[in-house]
Amino acid sequence: MKNVLRIDSTIKPFNKKISVEGDKSLSIRWVLISSLSKKKSTAFNILKSEDVISAINCIKKLGAKVKIRKNKCEIIGTGLNYKTKKNLKLNAGNSGTLGRLLLGLLVNSKDKIKLVGDQSLSKRDFSRVIEPLKKFGALFKSNKNKLPIIIKGSNNLKSINYVENKGSAQCKTSIMFAALKANGITKIKAKKSRNHTELLFKNLSLPIKIKKKSNYDLIEVGKANKINSLNYKIPGDISSSAFFIVLTILSKNSKLIINNINLNPSRIGIIEILKKMGASIKLVNIRMYKNEKIGDIIIKSSKNLKAINCPTKYNSSAIDEFLIIFLVAAKSKGISTFKDLTELNQKESPRLIWGSKILNLMGIKTILTKDKIKIFGNPEIIIKKNIIIKDFLKDHRVFMMSVIAAHTFGGKWKISDLDSIKTSFPTFLKTLGQLKR
Ligand code: S3P
Repeated sequence: MKNVLRIDSTIKPFNKKISVEGDKSLSIRWVLISSLSKKKSTAFNILKSEDVISAINCIKKLGAKVKIRKNKCEIIGTGLNYKTKKNLKLNAGNSGTLGRLLLGLLVNSKDKIKLVGDQSLSKRDFSRVIEPLKKFGALFKSNKNKLPIIIKGSNNLKSINYVENKGSAQCKTSIMFAALKANGITKIKAKKSRNHTELLFKNLSLPIKIKKKSNYDLIEVGKANKINSLNYKIPGDISSSAFFIVLTILSKNSKLIINNINLNPSRIGIIEILKKMGASIKLVNIRMYKNEKIGDIIIKSSKNLKAINCPTKYNSSAIDEFLIIFLVAAKSKGISTFKDLTELNQKESPRLIWGSKILNLMGIKTILTKDKIKIFGNPEIIIKKNIIIKDFLKDHRVFMMSVIAAHTFGGKWKISDLDSIKTSFPTFLKTLGQLKR
């Protein structure tokens, strides 16, 4: 497969209906939670990307049985104690979510387990979960809290009190998973972040209590005796939809409907931000499925986009979408500001830096600090030059942002690491192709 994508023309007006692949957060959570049940769990439309396949490979090594046929996946898990053996090595690939959530589930493992990952994941910080998981009683060995990490669990875990103040759903979930295996009640004070795990625990009638406050949630999780089967129809991923939402907004005379998307309020920061910037987006056919809000998105080309001083309350609910939102800021009138975004540099690549670099290559002025970017929008932007995007640690969202920029602003683009999309959205280019037909 050629791993460099060349794009040298913008997309023509389109009027289409599409769907995108299953939600990644829900797919990984479904796989991991199903591995804890001795009963058979079934899911439809699970995302078949490398991150989710890595999750499946990990639970298989831990004793779960997995069957995948077309869009149906069945898992028979081990119960709350995995069947581990000596010298077990688990590979989380590119996925921070998988790596961090798995460690939460391994706190009671009898044997030492080695967790490894790819080059990008091996640069990322795991102290954020190692420190609280140690307090439960698990033991860790690593070099500066980076992969490879060796974990050895305990059969006498004690519950903890934990404050999550980054707005990280990965940290929150990792601790919630460990709490299911610990004696007593674990108390979590968590800054607001995506709440799929809480909703799944409720669906399974697991011992969880939640008190919602305005800026944070108080979550209590008790020890689980056993976990029931979890059957699920996974809705489409808003984070994958985001690329096509922005493509439509920035294209001329176009309209797009994206069907069956998870519109959980803790995930739709992008919709709220883009609406404030003057984008035409409607959420329709709203329905509830297992406490998740699902619906369709109607997007139209939008003129007269205006800059935003983005309220930080959207930072967690739009965390995976900032790169693509920056493209809208590039075409808006005025100077946009996005702040308090240290976490954006902790992703598959330092995304705040990469966002700024790509905008600069496009001829858009930015002012970048450690946690903030100012983007000087240009509503007349047309690119005429050659742009080369490479060495971005194979970050799938950097790749997809660049592809959307090339299709909307013009120029001759050469974008490396096409295979990066395999981690989260393998059919991205195929879906883009549907808009060109
Ligand atoms: C995720 C949480 C977010 C997000 C990631 C998926 C999850 O990470 O960036 O893509 O499924 O819990 P953080 O929790 O580190 O912000």
